Amino acid sequence: MTTAPQAQLVFHGTLIHSKVLDELTILENAVLVVDPNDGRIIRLDENVPREDVPALLRSLGLDDADGGAKTRYLERTEFLIPGFVDTHNHAPQYAQRGLGQSMQILDWLSTVTFPNEARFADPAHAQRIYSRCVDSFLRQGITTAAYYGSLHAEATQILADLCLAKGQRALVGKCNMDRHAPPSYVEASPEASLRDTEACLAHVERIDPAGRLVRYVLTPRFAISCSDALLAGLGAIARRRPDLAIQTHVNEARSEMEFTRRLFPAFGSEIDLYEHFGLLSPRSILAHCCYMSEREVQQVAALGCGVAHCPVANMTVGGGFMAAPVRALLRAGVKVGLGTDSGGGFSSSLLDAARQALVASNTREVASEGEDRGLTIAELFYLATLGGAQVCGLEEKVGTFQVGKEFDALVINAADRAGGGSVMTMIEEEDSLNTIFEKFIMTGDDRNIEQVYVRGRLVKS
Ligand code: GUN
Ligand code: FE
Repeated sequence: MTTAPQAQLVFHGTLIHSKVLDELTILENAVLVVDPNDGRIIRLDENVPREDVPALLRSLGLDDADGGAKTRYLERTEFLIPGFVDTHNHAPQYAQRGLGQSMQILDWLSTVTFPNEARFADPAHAQRIYSRCVDSFLRQGITTAAYYGSLHAEATQILADLCLAKGQRALVGKCNMDRHAPPSYVEASPEASLRDTEACLAHVERIDPAGRLVRYVLTPRFAISCSDALLAGLGAIARRRPDLAIQTHVNEARSEMEFTRRLFPAFGSEIDLYEHFGLLSPRSILAHCCYMSEREVQQVAALGCGVAHCPVANMTVGGGFMAAPVRALLRAGVKVGLGTDSGGGFSSSLLDAARQALVASNTREVASEGEDRGLTIAELFYLATLGGAQVCGLEEKVGTFQVGKEFDALVINAADRAGGGSVMTMIEEEDSLNTIFEKFIMTGDDRNIEQVYVRGRLVKS
């Protein structure tokens, strides 16, 4: 059987991405061509006047006029950016977002979260909520998400299936938790937890053998909810499979840190604890890291772990007003990305996470008497895109526009559409591209995210 070759995707207009932390790259009159078969960017030119595009495409053997290529000409208020990477997201908490936001973390887990997550024992419930969850995050421009499932193997496999079917790039892991949770929501033994983990890992590698879109991530929820035997068993899987990502929560709140110290008195810190069990490597994604000693920052840097910075959750649920010391982490060379921690926070928007990261960094600037400067717009954008890709081990594939990388991208439309448009600050005639971009980052929302592509596939239009 032969199938007609699919048309190449071609864009002409402004592309904005971030290749280094503190600098935006704005490509004007760019031509970007995507191979529809593998979703890779196969051509990227700059400064091509619009009227020269058809000739360029003809010279490349792409017949624009006859519909051989689908060319999208972007207007002045439209531009392409790389898709957002959400480095920390609890999929089962999608339907509890915004609840219990003034509670302390451990109370919030036991009264709001664990009873909610227990409902994912029912596969039909998982199918319904996870379907909405993945659709919604794609609509928010989150092309890659690192998901925690519930503790249930079947529900987690449903989540992986949905990510693949709907076209979201994802790390998916079932939570490991065999203690300090209610009887209705706790795993029976470390052996049962590890068996379900292996089943989920096998499932993900069966549905996406090359890990093109979906990969498994080992997910010890946090040390409080994992016995020594469970942590050791997960460490053994990590040793056997050093390619697998690992995600957990670290140093989120004083109460959580205190309880952890009582459970594991042999360790001076959570970093020592997780390192002892073989769970820290360049594939590790450490959520929160709100309270970090200088020694821990240096350890995390030396081990090559990434940090998922979740300022919305950290400054609401958790009972503190403290998020990760991002400037200090970046100074030490630690990879940092942003997380919605959806469920933990009140928003499923990575733009909200970026704005709250600005607020959190300003509090750090004040507390450090100016030494730890607040984050700039360019830096926030870097964390939301390439920084997140690095944290998820995907920087070779996504995060910037580059020939050979896969096309995960958002078409932003910043035009002020009267009567039904978004709340984004209006564009004025004299606005530079930089100004339009800044208005989008600080005031835009999903209504300005007109199209979303993952691996060259249109997943929102
Ligand atoms: N620590 C362990 N589990 C969780 C969770 O679901 N959310 C947050 N914010 N912290 C956690
Ligand atoms: Fe979390």
